[in-house]
Amino acid sequence: MRILDLGSGSGRDCFIASKLVGQKGEVPGGEMYFSDVYCDRRIPNHLKEDQVLWGECLSGALYWNDFLKIARNTGFTDPRITESRPIAIENEDLEEKLGEHTFFSVTYRLFKIEGLEEDCEDYGQAVRYKGTIENHPHSFDLDHHHNFQKGKIEPVCGNTYLMLNQTRFKGDFDFFGDFNTHYGIFEGCGGEMPFAIDGTQDNSCC
Ligand SMILES: C[S@@+](CC[C@H](N)C(=O)[O-])C[C@H]1O[C@@H](n2cnc3c(N)ncnc32)[C@H](O)[C@@H]1O
Repeated sequence: MRILDLGSGSGRDCFIASKLVGQKGEVPGGEMYFSDVYCDRRIPNHLKEDQVLWGECLSGALYWNDFLKIARNTGFTDPRITESRPIAIENEDLEEKLGEHTFFSVTYRLFKIEGLEEDCEDYGQAVRYKGTIENHPHSFDLDHHHNFQKGKIEPVCGNTYLMLNQTRFKGDFDFFGDFNTHYGIFEGCGGEMPFAIDGTQDNSCC
């Protein structure tokens, strides 16, 4: 297993984990997890300077979309969410200070693989899970919306294909197709065609 381990704060947990996993470093096909608190918007300085909010791991949180930009700019082109849940503040004083700021605990799975694209593109590919990953005999979750059941052929975008084919999961799947023919955006995977077939266009977002 190839793992890049990073931490925050003093890095103590990261140091202990590095002793357990051994090899460190940035390896193509390697896999990294980021579990942290994210905010639904950028946090203004007056909240960052609030020691209680900072100490509660709230006002130091990154705006989720800024995290995605950082990840992409450092070569982790298609971050995948494995877990997410809203964080309940449960304190009237803090709620008053935070106003509409909403926080989430999120775990991202990141791969650095040559060929990953910013969007999920359709090359007509598919995969079939063999049921061979330890403790996952019936199905395997790559992320929160990619569940692969043993024996079932599932159409996948080019990025998902690479995340399974160019990583430690390669032996656990059968692979169908290649990158020779592009069929457009992979609908339902985060991106969609921005214009309608009938010529109408919805410009309502900004
Ligand atoms: C004290 S630091 C620990 C850092 C590092 N593990 C170490 O040993 O130095 C706590 C980290 O956990 C994050 N954190 C706190 N609550 C969290 C939650 N509910 N979900 C995810 N991350 C959380 C904070 O944002 C911060 O990055």
